[in-house]
Amino acid sequence: MWFVRFLTSSIGKKLVMASSGLLLFLFLCTHAAGNATIFMSSKVFQSYADELHSHPLIVLVFSLSLLAIFLVHIGVGLYLFNENRAVSTSRYAVSTRVVKNSLASQTMPYTGLFILLFLVVHIFGFTFSPKTVPISVTVKELLGNFFYALFYILAFAALFLHLSHGFWSMLQTFGVNHPRYNEFIARLTLVFPLFFFAIFAGIAFYFMTGLGANY
Ligand code: HEM
Repeated sequence: MWFVRFLTSSIGKKLVMASSGLLLFLFLCTHAAGNATIFMSSKVFQSYADELHSHPLIVLVFSLSLLAIFLVHIGVGLYLFNENRAVSTSRYAVSTRVVKNSLASQTMPYTGLFILLFLVVHIFGFTFSPKTVPISVTVKELLGNFFYALFYILAFAALFLHLSHGFWSMLQTFGVNHPRYNEFIARLTLVFPLFFFAIFAGIAFYFMTGLGANY
């Protein structure tokens, strides 16, 4: 079938990575906005979480779709990484791809796997936390632990690195590339990762240092 053939082609796989990456980016925007209510008060954050969970069907569909998007992004990402490695170690292959040779681009699979490890820890800690304890209390308790919060901050640094290349790569795949705007695009690829780092690491830092003691 032409669709399967397209999806398994090189450009098809890049498009799958870019589209799933875009959806994950949109999730991060909503998650960062929701979590930022922590800085207002535990009451505001709790009412945000309660409002979300008052629509269980929407939450279920959203969570399952998110899981599927993550699996596709990770699966195709690892496949592309192996494929690229096979090409670069072949004595006969000539690579015509222009690779942005930065720390972020070279470490994509490793930062990706670290984020995956973070997600497993995160979901066990928060999504599957005992329902008898309000989520606003769980957040304070878990992130009040210095080493737990430190692990989170390291994961957010990996997320920063991953997104700083991923965002650029996604825009290239979508053809957002023009000599007049390339400078602006390059800056844009840093603004969003920095913004996410500030919000997420800011929350971990808030509890880790005791700044959020009265939250
Ligand atoms: C300090 C920063 C963060 C805090 C405080 C936080 C908080 C939370 C909380 C409270 C939940 C559970 C929501 C609920 O079921 O009531 C949750 C779920 C989740 N978080 Fe985070 N989060 C943070 C950072 C992140 C980051 C950076 C990512 C992605 C890289 C992420 C991905 C997820 C995912 C995938 C879920 C499950 C969503 C679902 O089941 O639909 N979180 N987070």
